[in-house]
Amino acid sequence: MGKDTFYITTPIYYPSDKLHIGHTYCTVATDTLARYHRLKGEDVMFLTGTDEHGQKIEQKAEAAGITPKEFVDRIVEGPRGVRDLWKLMNISNDRFIRTTDDYHVSAVQKIFRKMYDKGDIYKGTYKGKYCTPCESFWTESQLKDGCCPDCGRPVVDAEEEAYFFRLSKYADRIRDLLVNTDFLQPRSRVNEMVKNFIDPGLEDLCVSRTSFTWGIPVDFDRKHVVYVWLDALTNYITALGYENDRYDEYHKYWPGINIVGKEIVRFHSIIWPAMLMSLGEPLPKHVFGHGWLLLDGGKMSKSKGNVVDPYLLAERYSADALRYFLLRDFPFGSDGNFSNELLINRINMDLANDLGNLLSRTTAMADKYFGGNLPIEQDEGPEDAALLEKARGLRDRYEADMEAYAFQNALADVFEVIDNANKYIDATAPWVLAKSEDSKPRLARVLYNLAETLRICTVLLQPFMPTTCEKIFAQLNVEADGKTWDSAAAFGTLPVNATLHKGENIFPRIDAAKELAELEALEAAQKAAAQAANAPAEEKEEKPAESGAASAELIGEHEEEITFDDFCKVELRVAEVRACER
Ligand code: MSP
Repeated sequence: MGKDTFYITTPIYYPSDKLHIGHTYCTVATDTLARYHRLKGEDVMFLTGTDEHGQKIEQKAEAAGITPKEFVDRIVEGPRGVRDLWKLMNISNDRFIRTTDDYHVSAVQKIFRKMYDKGDIYKGTYKGKYCTPCESFWTESQLKDGCCPDCGRPVVDAEEEAYFFRLSKYADRIRDLLVNTDFLQPRSRVNEMVKNFIDPGLEDLCVSRTSFTWGIPVDFDRKHVVYVWLDALTNYITALGYENDRYDEYHKYWPGINIVGKEIVRFHSIIWPAMLMSLGEPLPKHVFGHGWLLLDGGKMSKSKGNVVDPYLLAERYSADALRYFLLRDFPFGSDGNFSNELLINRINMDLANDLGNLLSRTTAMADKYFGGNLPIEQDEGPEDAALLEKARGLRDRYEADMEAYAFQNALADVFEVIDNANKYIDATAPWVLAKSEDSKPRLARVLYNLAETLRICTVLLQPFMPTTCEKIFAQLNVEADGKTWDSAAAFGTLPVNATLHKGENIFPRIDAAKELAELEALEAAQKAAAQAANAPAEEKEEKPAESGAASAELIGEHEEEITFDDFCKVELRVAEVRACER
């Protein structure tokens, strides 16, 4: 029988600027799931990529004096670009899609036409409020005091020809999908979708634009480009070969699981399944909407200049430490506050103290007392049963948490066993056992149990910290059969006469106060440099401003900006400094 298949995706990120720790969080979580399923022996396809069309990118490229393709190429393929970041973070994606890839472009055109031929896409007129300076359409409810919510200037009634997708036709099926199945996770997101979007009534969705050109042309009506979300959402299937012959794995891997941030859950839980219903294709198994990493209680955004640079942190502390921290400190379904202090404390407490110490104490004692080779003659003792029971049951507890996307709990389970093992050292006092030849067999057993417990923990840590786990395996001399999912439930996989070697210290302790001061200085310098470089181009919100028809209802959260009215209330004063005193 063939292996079970497992398909998992991240959102495809906008290459409008360098990615930050929030994007890294999502990709690391998805990578960890992909590695977990590979560890379980499944045939995994893990996809990530970039969402390269839209007006924001067109505008940024223009400001930079280059073509949109040159612009996205730099951010995706250039030094310290998206691909470099995923390499640094040890992301194991099997495929990387760019929506400018030829096969995707032609597949999107075919998909658009298919939906048109079916009557689910039709030509209509978009009526709305138009802000001429911003070239943006808005709905009545989005206006602020009757004016453009972006610039505060008056808007005019306007219409333009556009294609619409019959989203309304699928409203009942989408409601049923959300309410009566576990399609959307965590469950807490379902109410939000139903109350905010389904209950008020789903309107047909405008899916073409004529106000800019950086998009996929509708091939039978070339003055229109395909709405960027329709283009983007289909990436999950075009990357497998849907409507193209670049790949031939659609039937093998689809349907899969889409991991996305909470702000784009509505695109993934309403529009995306409706598109698939229209195409007559299976729906994703799940969409999981994870929470945000916040900084000082607010969303990170480049325009606020409060983004955390994953390059800096991964290069300083290692990708594994950063990966571990991201998944250990923040419950995946909820928001969490990022801070450097939390990161450093976590590295010191869990990785340097608990895990690092357990490894170095175990291997150092094996070296010191047995020259690294445990003797076959070993004696059990009264302290063993509790530790062995904990270690034997670990895989099941971990599995239940991983299946529920509860990375935090899965890691807590592993570290509970690591803590038990450290306490087992204190309880058995190997340094006392080493004093007499008679207790050497007991000492050997204690060290074996420690090594074996550590091996089991390391097997399960592999999806989270792949590089570190290889280093631990090397110090414990673990062969391939001791790294497998099955072996994590089998205490006793290491040979009794195991050979252990003390190697490098896997996580040296960090001097927190010194490090925090240095990080702060580095980040301040980076922020100043970024602000100086980006100032004029960064005044607007993060999401691509789809200024064509009807996009506004679908744009993600807006960055907080001062309204024009509030701006008018600001009292600006000028003063002259006449004298200064020390
Ligand atoms: N291009 C769209 C997605 C299309 S998918 C068919 C997009 N791109 S994005 O660059 O804005 O990336 C959004 C994703 O990045 C979020 O959904 C989330 O997964 C991740 N994050 C961006 N900022 C984040 C935080 N501050 N915290 C956590 N994740 C965040 O939307």
